[in-house]
Order: sequence, then structure tokens, then C-alpha cells
Amino acid sequence: MELDPSTHDRSMYRTLTGTVVPRPIGWISTTSTEGVDNLAPYSFFNVVSVSPPVVMFAPGVRPHGLTDTARNVEETEEFVVNVVTAPFAEAMNRTSASVPSDESEFDFADLERAASTKVRPPRVAGVEVAYECELYDMQRVGSHHVVMGEVVYAHIDDGLLTEDGKVDVGNLDVVGRLAGSFYDSVESRFRMERPD
Ligand SMILES: Cc1cc2nc3c(=O)[nH]c(=O)nc-3n(C[C@H](O)[C@H](O)[C@H](O)COP(=O)(O)O)c2cc1C
Repeated sequence: MELDPSTHDRSMYRTLTGTVVPRPIGWISTTSTEGVDNLAPYSFFNVVSVSPPVVMFAPGVRPHGLTDTARNVEETEEFVVNVVTAPFAEAMNRTSASVPSDESEFDFADLERAASTKVRPPRVAGVEVAYECELYDMQRVGSHHVVMGEVVYAHIDDGLLTEDGKVDVGNLDVVGRLAGSFYDSVESRFRMERPD
């Protein structure tokens, strides 16, 4: 198959999300100006810069406008990225439901909140990694916005660390997104050294 996006726009979503895989999942908590805690997964998610530490996620523009997450970030300039591990996979999925803006996905998915240190939105209690972020920049790119956040505080569970205090990815039971309803777990991990 050959694809020219200028004439096959409709199939690009399936093509891109089915082949740019596995994608990490940023489980984004925000708090609206009315004080409602929102939580939703975004797999268009990655690291942008290390110094300063900046991460990004990309909410698509919906027919009704911004997603609740995007609107909350635009208005409050704060969010938290929670890292999704296997025990939280089902709860993460529940929080992708279309929940009214005045209802919290924390309550909808029976998740406990943990207070953040430097920003208002809460973390998901029990996650092993959470990054508190302040809005760095938000830009419209076609059908999506790119939301960049500077990490102003990081919570890393001590159980993930090696004896000399570094994160050991072997201890993180992280979940990635493949296409549609398919997800990726750590079972398929293998090791390969980089050349000099
Ligand atoms: C694993 C997963 C990843 C998702 N990634 C994205 C994404 O990158 N961009 C997006 O616009 N929607 C994504 N969605 C859909 C949103 O999570 C969903 O529309 C949600 O209701 C948005 O919630 P909000 O309005 O509270 O922000 C994803 C859903 C799932 C289950």
C-alpha cells in the first residue's frame, strides 16, 4: 500500500496509531477553574527536553472544541503526568470514558487522589511515578494541540531504584499502547547493547 496523506487523510489515524507503536501513556490529571479534578490518558505523549525537563502530550481537537484536559491546562497552566503500570491499566481505561466536565474521573473510576507538592492537580494515589508540570507552551498543530509541560517536581517510588539511586526500568511494570484496544506489557522485553 502507498499512502499520500493529501488524498488519504481519513486513513492516516489508523495508519499512524497502528504503526507508531508502542506509545507510552501519559495519564494526565488537571483541575478545572471550578475545582473539578479531571483525569484522562493520552498516548500521544513523550519527552521533549531534559534541561529544562519538558514533556509533551497531544489532545485532539474534538467537534465540540478542546478536551477537558486541554481546556484545564490552557486555563490553569498546570497538570500532572501519572505513569500507567499494569495494576492501573483498567482504571486508566475507565478514565477515557466521556465523563461530563463537572464530574471527576477520579470518582468515576474509584481512584484515590494524592496531593501534589507544587501544583494544584492531584496525583493518582499509588502510582509509582508522577511528574508535576507547569505549562511550558501549547501550540495548535493541525488536528491536535501539542501541550508541553516543564516538570517542576517528580515523585519516584523508592522501589524502582537501584542501590545507587538510579531508576531501574526492570522494576517498572509499565503499559504501552498499541493500536485500538491492544496494549503492550513488559513481557516482551529484551536487551541489546549500543555500538561505540
Ligand atoms: C490509552 C488511551 C490513549 C489515548 N490517547 C489520546 C491522545 O493521545 N489524544 C487524544 O486526543 N485522545 C486520546 N485518548 C482519548 C481520551 O483519553 C478521551 O477522549 C478522554 O475522554 C479525554 O478526556 P478529557 O476530555 O477529560 O480530557 C486516549 C484514550 C486511551 C484509552
